[in-house]
Amino acid sequence: MRKRIIILGSTGSIGKAALEVINALGDEVEIVGLAAGNNWRLLAQQTARFGVEQVAIGAESGYDGLKRDCPSGTKVFAGTAGVAELVAESEANLVLSAIVGAAGLPATLAAAERGMDIALANKESLVIAGSLILPLARERGGRLIPVDSEHSAVFQALQSGRREEVRKIYLTASGGPFRTWSADRIEQATLAEALQHPTWEMGPKITIDSATMMNKALEVIEAVWLFDVGPEQVDVLVHPESIVHALVEYCDGSVIAQLGPPDMKTPIQYAITFPRRVPGLAEPLRWDEIGSLNFELPDFEKFPALRLGYEAARRGGSSGAVLNAANEAAVERFRGEQIRFGEIAAVTEEVCRRHRLIEQPTLDELLESDAWARQEVNACCRR
Ligand SMILES: NC(=O)c1ccc[n+]([C@@H]2O[C@H](COP(=O)([O-])OP(=O)(O)OC[C@H]3O[C@@H](n4cnc5c(N)ncnc54)[C@H](OP(=O)(O)O)[C@@H]3O)[C@@H](O)[C@H]2O)c1
Repeated sequence: MRKRIIILGSTGSIGKAALEVINALGDEVEIVGLAAGNNWRLLAQQTARFGVEQVAIGAESGYDGLKRDCPSGTKVFAGTAGVAELVAESEANLVLSAIVGAAGLPATLAAAERGMDIALANKESLVIAGSLILPLARERGGRLIPVDSEHSAVFQALQSGRREEVRKIYLTASGGPFRTWSADRIEQATLAEALQHPTWEMGPKITIDSATMMNKALEVIEAVWLFDVGPEQVDVLVHPESIVHALVEYCDGSVIAQLGPPDMKTPIQYAITFPRRVPGLAEPLRWDEIGSLNFELPDFEKFPALRLGYEAARRGGSSGAVLNAANEAAVERFRGEQIRFGEIAAVTEEVCRRHRLIEQPTLDELLESDAWARQEVNACCRR
């Protein structure tokens, strides 16, 4: 069946890579909707370039410019509700969820509600509301196909055995730019230093999350939801080359790993063409250049954010929403040069510690927890 896709976050790092992939796939995929946050100029260009009929812009202020620059007849939605409406109204059968942060949740939920397949890059929506998205998708018949390279790797390695045969999942982490730094030096890292990722080119928020290792913390929670395993079954391995993306250890001791170049076009394409594989755009691995692959255990002292991820995964309920929102707000403050790098995890931990857990939260309670955590970060930072 021809894939009819909506790309949420088409102006971002994942969104732009997805457009390249789709362009190369030709007639196999039709883009029926695009959405972005603020960048209406680029969104209008993408709309015209790919002949898209429905688009949405998260910022209401972008509506007039987008409407003016899109080809006539394009249906334009605006606001957070508008992005979700685009999904709810469309005839897509696949949604690439690649908005950054909690802003991606409403549209991801709308896709699950409609029973569409979801190619999921926006891990934050599962961290916040995995307890709602997973059962909803299952009930409506939609599949969640991971785009995160580690989860795509696990998804592929899991095809070698049965779920009950899995002993352990290992998510690899590059270790970020501060892997070899001392704790004191990390504490004082500048914004420019945090934005220098050694192996991946990504948007700014996930790049900073990789530097604190909060990205891996969120990925542990994402893995718990996606693969229906306990947090004690998910381990993190630091692997600076970013070539082995994840490993699955089975009960007989066999370990199945997925390897590939550190290029998001590969997992994006796999999520779009799944269950088929077709020739891809990424440069193949050059074994003569790789030399050796290294693995080490993560340092939970230097990177306390990782511990916070395990704690939230174990506590469940509203703790993922609070962890995610506190981190987003703290990262924003760091990007505004209002707090030091080391304070991102410290402030997030303080807010998580003060949170009163709701064990089986509704969507409203999750959104309230999210809003509460953001206010608490502001209060912490004022102090
Ligand atoms: N980049 C990677 O390699 C990578 C790898 C694995 C997973 N991911 C995940 O993929 C997601 C996107 O990451 P990214 O690196 O592509 O981020 P990014 O480059 O910052 O792009 C974010 C995208 O989200 C859009 N957006 C932001 N707020 C929005 C809103 N309120 N409504 C609608 N759209 C909104 C942005 O639009 P504007 O451009 O208009 O602001 C942009 O298109 C994140 O959840 C990240 O964790 C990324």
